[in-house]
Formats: sequence, structure tokens, C-alpha cells
Amino acid sequence: MALVVFNQKGGVGKSTITCNLAAISASQGLRTLVIDLDPQGNSSSYLLGESATEDQANVGGFFDFCLSFSFKPLTATDFVIPTPFDKLHLMAANAELNELQTKLESRQKIYKLREALQQLSEDYDRIYIDTPPALNFYTRSALIGATGCLIPFDCDEFSRKALYTLLDNVQEIKSDHNPELEVKGIVVNQFQPRANLPQRIVDELIAEGLPVLQPYLPSSVRIRESHEQSRPMVYLDPKHRLTQALVELHDTLFAKPKKKASKSR
Ligand SMILES: Nc1ncnc2c1ncn2[C@@H]1O[C@H](COP(=O)(O)OP(=O)(O)OP(=O)(O)O)[C@@H](O)[C@H]1O
Ligand SMILES: [Mg+2]
Repeated sequence: MALVVFNQKGGVGKSTITCNLAAISASQGLRTLVIDLDPQGNSSSYLLGESATEDQANVGGFFDFCLSFSFKPLTATDFVIPTPFDKLHLMAANAELNELQTKLESRQKIYKLREALQQLSEDYDRIYIDTPPALNFYTRSALIGATGCLIPFDCDEFSRKALYTLLDNVQEIKSDHNPELEVKGIVVNQFQPRANLPQRIVDELIAEGLPVLQPYLPSSVRIRESHEQSRPMVYLDPKHRLTQALVELHDTLFAKPKKKASKSR
């Protein structure tokens, strides 16, 4: 299962949610991979901290390989590195992604990530993909390759309006390229239960039939410490209310559908 975390709007919590859900999967013993497609590299520095090195394998290397024709078969795992956390691996971002984009577009490499994900899904139980705040080559590649899409939402009125276009974009990619893609839902982030406006905005989304996931993620300054220390919440503070909400969200996402009780005759 490859889950892409996507919202064209910046700063809604994509990287935070990607890394924290991935850390929870890993802490539950699942072989987990994060693919960071954002040249800003926020997820990469969140997960690697000081263990990041200049010469580490990265996702730019993977796309570069896709551009250089080779008889050597592509092995996506060559571009994966471990993180300091057990069972949590990373395809790190690098600034080269910016330069590569035009070439990748003109040479029509949009299905390469999908091929890589098919290979990687043999080695990993969960794959999370962090995307840049734009609907560009990398985001499209991820939506074409993933099986699920999560949309972080920051309870802002402008974001609410942008959600409809965003969902249309996802549906278009699904119908043109990836029938398997499923919108897993909207993740309400930085929710402030005591303020009226966020509650109203979220209630409106639900009334309009949008797939809003439970629980909502509270706003907490602890997340800054988590970023600073490069330790996702489940390792930094497992009992914190934000960690608990993330764990519940994780479990909601991966809950097995309940079997219907068989009717007795
Ligand atoms: N639940 C939360 N509580 C408090 N602050 C949060 C929460 N989630 C995210 N933030 C803060 O919001 C900011 C943006 O988060 P993040 O980088 O995860 O968003 P993003 O969508 O990945 O941004 P970009 O579009 O730039 O990649 C960060 O400073 C982060 O600390
Ligand atoms: Mg980000």
C-alpha cells in the first residue's frame, strides 16, 4: 500500500503527517518507507536529523537514473537509505529535483515512480509519499503510482475552497491513469476545538459529503520540538495527545474492514 500525502497549499502539515504516520507504522513493526518528493526536503531532515550526509543515495539519483538509458535494470531499493529508527527507511529528497523536473516531463517519465513503487511494495508493508505544495511532475507521478491519497487540511476558508479543485484533480488522475487510486480522506490538522470557525468549516465539509477522517489532529507546539530534535512524536512523546490522535488516525486508516456476521438460517 502506497499512500501519497497531497495538498497544493503550503504549510498544511503534509510533511508532519507523512513522517508521523510512517513512524507509527514502523513502531508497530511494519517495514515502512518514506519517499520525499519535495526539493525542500523537510521530511528528509525530520527523519534523518544529523545523520544526513552529502553523499547519501536519494530520490534525485533515482530520477536521474530514469533519464540515463541503461541496460541495467532499475532497482529502486538502491536509492533507499535507513533512518535512525527501526524499520523506517527513506528515499531522501535533494535540491536536484528542481533541475530534473523539465527533463523528466519532456522525456515522459511520469510512470517511472509507479514502476518503482511496484518493486518497492515487495520490500515494504507501508510506503508514504510526501509531496511538494504544487501539482507538478512529482505530485502527478505520486498520484499515478499510489493506491491511496490523504489530504491534510488546515481549517482555513481559502483551503476549503481549494479542496474542490484538488479533489477534481485527483479524480482526473484516477480516471486517466490510476483506477486503483482511492481518496482515503481529509485529515483535519491543527484543529482548535474551542474556536467556532474551524468547527463550522469542518462541519460544512462533512455536510457536503466530503470524506473527513477522525480524529482531528490538535494543534500543539510540541511538534516544533519534534521537528527540531528530528524525532517523530511517537518516539519523542508517545503519551502526548497529538501522538494519541495520530495513532488513532493511523489505526482508522489501516483498519481491516469488519467481516459481516454470517446470518444463521
Ligand atoms: N498539529 C500541528 N500543531 C502545530 N503545528 C503544526 C501541526 N502540524 C503542522 N504544524 C506546523 O505547521 C508548519 C507546516 O507543517 P509542514 O511542514 O508539515 O507542512 P507542509 O504541508 O509539509 O508544508 P510545505 O507545503 O511547505 O511542504 C510547521 O511549522 C509545523 O510545525
Ligand atoms: Mg512539506
